[in-house]
Amino acid sequence: MKLHGKTIVITGSSSGIGGEVARLARFEGARVIGIDRNDTLLTLDGFVKMDLGDPAVIDAAITALPDRIDGLVNAAGVPGTVNSDIVARVNYLGLRHLTEALVPRMLKGASIVNIASILGADWPHRLDAHKELAAAASFVLGKAWLDTNPVQQENCYQYFKEALIVWTKKRSLELFMQDNIRMNSVAPGPVFTPILGDFVSMLGQERVDRDSALVKRPALPDEIAGPIVFLLSDDARWIVGANLPIDGGIEAAYV
Ligand SMILES: NC(=O)c1ccc[n+]([C@@H]2O[C@H](COP(=O)([O-])OP(=O)(O)OC[C@H]3O[C@@H](n4cnc5c(N)ncnc54)[C@H](O)[C@@H]3O)[C@@H](O)[C@H]2O)c1
Repeated sequence: MKLHGKTIVITGSSSGIGGEVARLARFEGARVIGIDRNDTLLTLDGFVKMDLGDPAVIDAAITALPDRIDGLVNAAGVPGTVNSDIVARVNYLGLRHLTEALVPRMLKGASIVNIASILGADWPHRLDAHKELAAAASFVLGKAWLDTNPVQQENCYQYFKEALIVWTKKRSLELFMQDNIRMNSVAPGPVFTPILGDFVSMLGQERVDRDSALVKRPALPDEIAGPIVFLLSDDARWIVGANLPIDGGIEAAYV
């Protein structure tokens, strides 16, 4: 069992990829605590209902989380069809806030996995902006930076997935050197989950048709969960700051 004896916190555990990671992590021996804004139907070792877009709610609710944590999977997310302010709060600012709040509870060797996306693949094109946002390290500072550097609704999902990849890389080095905590991200291509339809509305049929020609099919959530569980495990102990594509080859097809 790859995660025997580990305590893993998983956001977005009530649906899709987060739910599948929760199921597989328990199967691999972990004690799993789920977090979501929606109730869960899964068998978990604990569940905390919270809105990850509000730092005050996060601060109040994390008292219910364990004092000692071996892993965190940030799977909660919203598509770009919702308001860009909510995308910023849930997919980036709240994710960072929760992660930083839990770092002091993480044991040496702990692993954090952030779910980015193939849609964040253009991060090198806006690297300077993403580094500036990463340096605005708190929720409040990040929000202030975004107020002076507004992100368009049309590409907000892509923007904050790019920003997440860059923050993961920048912050992972400090976490590994200072606290022996590993942080990585994964970049799935399309996955059969309830938000897949939103991506079609978000990207438009033409882009979806173009990308569809590059892949055999969307992934099933368990095809994403396996690599995430690997990154949580000690087998991945020398993997730090990586952004792992799990996309059936789409990224390779862009070359
Ligand atoms: N499905 C895809 O094609 C795909 C592709 C690449 C990346 N992703 C990313 O994978 C992650 C998981 O998405 P999914 O496909 O499993 O979607 P999903 O909708 O099935 O699951 C997302 C979960 O996040 C929760 N959530 C959303 N907002 C929240 C909030 N404010 N507070 C607490 N919980 C909240 C939802 O309740 C839901 O349970 C997301 O970050 C998404 O951007 C998905």
